[in-house]
Amino acid sequence: MKILFLFGTRPEAIKMAPLIREFLTASGEFDIKVCVTAQHREMLDQVLRFFEIKPDFDLNIMKPDQNLFDITLTALEGIKKVISDYRPDWLLVQGDTTTTFVGALAAFYERVKVAHIEAGLRSFNKDAPFPEEMNRVLTTHLSDLHFAPTLKAKENLLREGVPEEKIFVVGNTSIDALFLCLTKVLNKNAEDFKTFHSIDFNKKIILVTGHRRESFGKPFENICRAIKAIAETNQVEVVYPVHLNPNVRRPVLKILRGLYNIHLIEPLDYPSFVWLMNQSYLILTDSGGVQEEAPSLGKPVLVIRDVTERTEGIDAGTARVVGTSREEIIQHALELLTHQEAYDRMARAVNPYGDGNASGRILQILSKVS
Ligand code: UD1
Ligand code: UDP
Repeated sequence: MKILFLFGTRPEAIKMAPLIREFLTASGEFDIKVCVTAQHREMLDQVLRFFEIKPDFDLNIMKPDQNLFDITLTALEGIKKVISDYRPDWLLVQGDTTTTFVGALAAFYERVKVAHIEAGLRSFNKDAPFPEEMNRVLTTHLSDLHFAPTLKAKENLLREGVPEEKIFVVGNTSIDALFLCLTKVLNKNAEDFKTFHSIDFNKKIILVTGHRRESFGKPFENICRAIKAIAETNQVEVVYPVHLNPNVRRPVLKILRGLYNIHLIEPLDYPSFVWLMNQSYLILTDSGGVQEEAPSLGKPVLVIRDVTERTEGIDAGTARVVGTSREEIIQHALELLTHQEAYDRMARAVNPYGDGNASGRILQILSKVS
């Protein structure tokens, strides 16, 4: 069976890596090729290096400050060529990026079957996350097999008319990646990471990440002003690996640069980030992947968005959606910094997103389909 893995960004690479590894170590029944659009460049390469993945095809499409048309058009053209030359039996795409959707569309046009990893997440709001909610919906309807991370995701797919026999609940491969990485970093110390030399780990660490397109402009400025106010209480060290998107970097650097206890650093390679998550007291993020990973480490998450498609963490009590208003973010963060009981209720190592064995399940299922 010929399988083509396609991805383009940091989170897709992290979530595909354990699956690629699983297929490469399986017996000779699969012919595997990896194609990256490189919708992300540096942030993708960090992941490829850590997981030792060498793509067979690299479309290298990233441009500074690219827009959705740039990604869609260049990726579609490049993927068409790879698919029509290699003629896979299955194209595997992951998640909800523009690479994901365009890959599924190209495969559909070329009459190649698509398996969608992390299928069925929904916010039910086409403007948030933008454009990811529509990328997911469209990818679902272009796909032939749907690997849902949770039962809730399966239910979303059933409601949209996806046949039940095409849906498999397997868990999220992000947890497989996390467990693979944890074994390599758990016994490391701050001194093992050059980037962290100026951080005072005797204080409570607040880890921040953010990149959502729907938050660009005013909401992002509000988030930054909230972070500044939390840092000014002097109780904490804020560590913020800043996403390379210029729309993120501009407000972050304008509002947060220069404070002694706010550490604005470059995007971290995956093992450094996982180590830092494990050292942190609290995480403020709009990231999908981080929402999934944090519960395995018992770290409470404040989701700095108005909606989340990852409601399992909210239901389990390990995450709260706090929106993008300055006051709300400050209030929730200060509550968790000062009320031990409220903190302990959230800091539970219960992970509703997976058990670390999703990739093995996907391989087993794919090896039985024709
Ligand atoms: C993309 C995905 C989003 C995903 C996120 C993960 C789309 C439309 N968006 O958003 O779903 O959650 O990745 O981080 O698919 N840049 C670099 N180097 C890099 C990466 C980005 O310089 O390695 C800069 C470039 O200027 C680039 C810009 O960031 O043009 C935006 O990248 P893009 O992939 O369009 O959007 P993201 O916000 O990263
Ligand atoms: N991550 C990383 N380095 C960083 C920040 C995040 O390796 O500096 C990892 C994180 O552990 C998670 C993934 O990147 O697995 C999340 O990526 P991002 O937030 O960019 O995208 P999303 O998950 O929101 O699509």
